[in-house]
Amino acid sequence: MKSALVEKFRATYGRAPEIIARAPGRIEFIGNHTDYNGGTVLGAAIDRGVWVALARREDAVRRFESDQRDGIVTVSAQRLERLEGAASWANYPLGVLAALPVFGLRAPAGFDYLAMSDLPAGAGLSSSAAIELASALVFAEAAGERPACETLVQAARHAENHFVGVPCGILDQGVSGFGRKDHLVYIDCRGPRFETVPLPRDAHFWIFNTHTKHALVDGLYAARHRECMEAARALGVDLLVDAPAGALQSSAGRALAPVAAKRARHIIDEIGRVAAAVAALRAGDLAAVGGMLTASHRSSQVWFENSTAELDFLVDALTATPEVYGARLTGGGFGGAVMALTSGKFGDAEAQSVAAAYENEFGARPDIRHTQTGDGAALR
Ligand code: GLA
Repeated sequence: MKSALVEKFRATYGRAPEIIARAPGRIEFIGNHTDYNGGTVLGAAIDRGVWVALARREDAVRRFESDQRDGIVTVSAQRLERLEGAASWANYPLGVLAALPVFGLRAPAGFDYLAMSDLPAGAGLSSSAAIELASALVFAEAAGERPACETLVQAARHAENHFVGVPCGILDQGVSGFGRKDHLVYIDCRGPRFETVPLPRDAHFWIFNTHTKHALVDGLYAARHRECMEAARALGVDLLVDAPAGALQSSAGRALAPVAAKRARHIIDEIGRVAAAVAALRAGDLAAVGGMLTASHRSSQVWFENSTAELDFLVDALTATPEVYGARLTGGGFGGAVMALTSGKFGDAEAQSVAAAYENEFGARPDIRHTQTGDGAALR
């Protein structure tokens, strides 16, 4: 990928790049919508991601190109504004440029920029966090800054929240930043505090991407965010992570509106499942980890209502298959992908039989990927 990136950079801009970085996509392992509620979450960086190359310019012109889009987006360093339409992909790097000063970091003035990706887009693997992290690395380096990984992660999330306009938590950027091969990233989102947890041998990830996406997915994500904040307020805490055990049985809990109560129940239980999954991982008990994953999905289905018939079908079919420890929707939900944790004995034949059953039901085949873990964002 790196040589293809350098070659394309030369072809586009007529010179070699000065700085290159790569950041991975991620799988949400467990901890569904817990991040913006101040909770905990486990994710894994994968072996695919976004590469960014950059060369500085003497003038204040910023040129952006992506192998995923046609044409070059040209903007002046004096105007840092959100773009609309076909150029709007450049809001990811532009958002990072806007975020850097918020974290006390300088940004480069003019430059030529190229992004290339081997992450399937729209597969729930967080290509947006990957492009933000890779961009943050090259911009910081171009400005002579060497910030801590945590600062880059925060700047990338800031870009997503305040420039791109998605009220996401820190999961995607945190995992892309702190990922490590054969490990999961554990995030205590309120600190935030990042740690890695070794993956037991014989833990395999399979991703089934349905290519279905609810038309209102951004609005639904924001609605869940709002519902959680309302539930926290009604329970007298800032964030649901602070709701004491038994909060839902208290008088404030019993007075919650039904929707708020369901959302709160999912978040409070899910934070407990993350802790149980970490303990089971440390004990090497993949069957117990898998049980937590499937329980997480059932909670999404019933309490958080961010699953779909397609995702439920895949989880049912997978969990009925030998060698599958557990399965759940991964990411925001409302369509997207299911992740299964399996033993090494689960292979293509098993995956294809689940895909065939799905096709029989829905008339389309999911994309299947036996995904490997990988390292976090870095200059290359
Ligand atoms: C999306 C967001 C994350 C997280 C998940 C749900 O991936 O970007 O911050 O909230 O949904 O857990």
